[in-house]
Amino acid sequence: MTRLRSLLLLPTLSFAIAGAQSATVAARPPMGWNSWNHFHSKVDDASVRAQAEAMVASGMRDAGYIYINIDDTWEGARDANGNIQPNSKFPDMKALADFVHSKGLKLGIYSSPGKKTCAGYEGSYGHELQDAQTYARWGIDYLKYDLCSLNDVMRAAPTPQAAHQIMVDAYTKMRDALRSTGRPIVYSLCQYGNDAVWRWGASVGGNLWRTTGDISDKYAKMAEIGFGQAGLARFAGPGHWNDPDMLEVGNGGMNEDEYKTHMSLWAILAAPLLAGNDLSTMSSQTLALLTNRNVIAVDQDPAGIEGDRVAAEGPIEVWARPLADGSKAVGIFNRHHLPLTAHVDLRALGYSAPVRAKDLWLGKDLGSIGLLYDVTVPAHGVVFLRVK
Ligand code: GLA
Repeated sequence: MTRLRSLLLLPTLSFAIAGAQSATVAARPPMGWNSWNHFHSKVDDASVRAQAEAMVASGMRDAGYIYINIDDTWEGARDANGNIQPNSKFPDMKALADFVHSKGLKLGIYSSPGKKTCAGYEGSYGHELQDAQTYARWGIDYLKYDLCSLNDVMRAAPTPQAAHQIMVDAYTKMRDALRSTGRPIVYSLCQYGNDAVWRWGASVGGNLWRTTGDISDKYAKMAEIGFGQAGLARFAGPGHWNDPDMLEVGNGGMNEDEYKTHMSLWAILAAPLLAGNDLSTMSSQTLALLTNRNVIAVDQDPAGIEGDRVAAEGPIEVWARPLADGSKAVGIFNRHHLPLTAHVDLRALGYSAPVRAKDLWLGKDLGSIGLLYDVTVPAHGVVFLRVK
């Protein structure tokens, strides 16, 4: 905390400003799939192709999921000229990119500004420009750049300010390298929200930045991360998003109400929607959770204004997001392990007369609801409305 406070006073620390360039990619929160949550180190060429095929066949691509992102463990040794090569799991990255592109999808990759990635594979330290050029040559469209072992370098710095500068310089270096390729590549910062990244992530070219440590497929962790995003809304906007980490929907550790909370909260947060399950084996129930068009429309709303918490009463929290058409997405969440009746005062959302409401998960028009709205919310669940 002391460190954070001292950093916030640094005159060099710039507030989030959307660079003109970064708005050309990720004008809306990126949607796609990432290998880490389900496959971890078991990701390979065949599994990535299978995800791309399932993305199309399931209808997820047409629902907006475009990026197929390979996370850590693809990296092999560098060749004699220092060029990064994939390891034996990925025989031909260019051919894989061509395949993914042929499906109307885009391919993402992962690296670290440190010497080693978090799983101990080759990082980009000292090879930033070369790696960016390699990614562009392969046809990569998205880079997740994960701090990992750069932490060791930062720890050796004489002051917190010097450590912070090492990190900012490293992220800026890769931004410049990516830009110099001329290829539009979404730049995803991953440093777990340290040093209030939302305040400077856009100024180092980030199109999105992780605001927290790693998610897991448990309600407690998902809720800690999701509800912990209160107060960050003003730092996000088109081209530069807060990233509370990838989705766990369909991985089996939460029930349907809990996954609805996950999706609803991420939509209110204008969060990237990166599915983290195995798309080639998912159930129709999982597919329905991932592709609910009302929920996706909230996440992808063209105004790009992130929502925030507007009221809390014990385990009941009300979050709202202003939408481009003048309506609001309203999530009434129950963090308790038993169902509860929420007493929602819509005046806290700025309304002074009854509103028209639609239940987004049920896809049902509720007609007019009064300013004092009582509704029963399932355990760990949500009632997700669009009101006008
Ligand atoms: C870190 C990141 C994860 C994942 C792993 C891969 O923990 O936060 O999202 O990329 O590294 O090693």
